[in-house]
Amino acid sequence: MSNSNFQIERWRGDFGNAYVARNQPTEEIVGIMERVFRRVLQSTRTPPASILEVGCNIGINLRAIRRFAGAELFAVEPNAKAREVVLKDGVLDAAHLADAWGSALPHPDSSMDFVFTSGVLIHIPEPALQDTMREIHRTSRRYIACLEYFSRDPQTIRYRGESDMLFKRDFGGLYLDMFPDLKIVDDGFFWRRSTGVDDLTWCLLEKA
Ligand SMILES: C[S@@+](CC[C@H](N)C(=O)[O-])C[C@H]1O[C@@H](n2cnc3c(N)ncnc32)[C@H](O)[C@@H]1O
Repeated sequence: MSNSNFQIERWRGDFGNAYVARNQPTEEIVGIMERVFRRVLQSTRTPPASILEVGCNIGINLRAIRRFAGAELFAVEPNAKAREVVLKDGVLDAAHLADAWGSALPHPDSSMDFVFTSGVLIHIPEPALQDTMREIHRTSRRYIACLEYFSRDPQTIRYRGESDMLFKRDFGGLYLDMFPDLKIVDDGFFWRRSTGVDDLTWCLLEKA
């Protein structure tokens, strides 16, 4: 494996398998995420023809997006059991799903209209985080979206008994600081009490 990052190894192994076992693509959760992505994609001026999700797990977001968007969908996911579910359930075919991770995306430059993460940047330590954001910026022709946990100052949070697997920060701000060609299109907060989503902050950025 070209990326020896311990974090990827854990997501590829038992830690990631346990996450897959805990998650089910129920009607309730897919419906919740449909409302989320309708809201995020509503702010794109032209509906994206291609969408790449970095870290799709069992494809809950892609199932939700598929319900209303006509875009060709792609994903990368490092965990084999999660990819198996995505393929078995027909969410994507093998040509649209890669065994890969954010810091080494297998897609050409500017090949996707819209590239996003949801609950994935929070799990990537530095400097792989910045490498991943560079790859997302490289592969996106136009839009980048992130739905992640926010903290103005970077914070490490204990997660599933691990002290180095969850980081909160201003990911949208970091994109803007790293890539001066990005501008803010829209942003918001999915409050658990009103949306059922896990208190995620989101932003939609566009290449100028
Ligand atoms: C918390 S889950 C979120 C899954 C999905 N995005 C969602 O919103 O339901 C994190 C996912 O990201 C994947 N992942 C972890 N590190 C990654 C990385 N460096 N690049 C791409 N995916 C990664 C994990 O295997 C896991 O499937």
